[in-house]
Amino acid sequence: MKPVRKVVIPVAGHGTRVLPATKSIPKELLPLVDRPLIDYVVREALDAGIEHVVLVTGRGKSAIEDYFDHAFELEAGLEAKNKTELLSSVRAPIQTAGAISYTRQQSPLGLGHAVWCARDIIGDEPFAVSLPDVVIDAAPSALAQMVTVYEKTGGNIIAVEEVAQEETNKYGIVAPKADRSGRLFEMSGMVEKPAPAKAPSNLAITGRYILQPEIFGLLEKTERGTGGEIQLTDAMDALMEQQSFFAYEYEGRSHDCGSKLGWLKANSALALKRPDLGKAYRDFLAAEL
Ligand code: G1P
Repeated sequence: MKPVRKVVIPVAGHGTRVLPATKSIPKELLPLVDRPLIDYVVREALDAGIEHVVLVTGRGKSAIEDYFDHAFELEAGLEAKNKTELLSSVRAPIQTAGAISYTRQQSPLGLGHAVWCARDIIGDEPFAVSLPDVVIDAAPSALAQMVTVYEKTGGNIIAVEEVAQEETNKYGIVAPKADRSGRLFEMSGMVEKPAPAKAPSNLAITGRYILQPEIFGLLEKTERGTGGEIQLTDAMDALMEQQSFFAYEYEGRSHDCGSKLGWLKANSALALKRPDLGKAYRDFLAAEL
């Protein structure tokens, strides 16, 4: 079985749910306490043993490339002042030359199309997809948990979690097979953003995937679906007919940082856990409430 070495991270989206903050800043660079969202997702992937990060980027997103580069003046200045802790914090989480690739999605045709844009860089091997809006607080990381499962099962795996029934129209929703038991289970189908009354369950796809390269051929044939976009969920639903496909309910807590409230909650949850900020922040919140 080939190992999962690469992750595709789509970063071309406009971030309309968090405008106007994202008018001139990529949403992936919005800070979560003191690090940008994309940094969390890349570190999560590295924790899962990923060696190569593929960013599917777009217009107005070049600041993301700078984030993953050296910042020579800044680093030299910090080094000269012996600020070692700050220095290590500004160093990119992935430093090996050639271990990060960028490809552009020229038109906003949907998540399925964004993943398809990475086909030549991925080649003929299994790969992960991580959506940077979704930050998952988990140890081991959510993707690391999935890789551990993958090493036993092979095939394709998607992360899922329960959401409120009235929120199914915000997510891809899976239909578990009737004999479901435990965190890992097979599905009979999946559907993108169904209305609550039509949803096959309340188990939502949470933005972490391990996929086989055959998905690319299916993505190429996938027609526009929900929202007029080429949906990864539709191609996965087709792949499920050909290959083994599992849903995995990971251990951890996800935050949807692509929405204003989700981003605020994530900042609070993570700040409260920080040894350097948690107590002062808790005192502030208590006084405010
Ligand atoms: C995407 C996927 C959806 C998934 C969601 C998780 O939707 O298409 O299946 O549940 O991410 O955040 P988006 O939020 O990009 O519209």
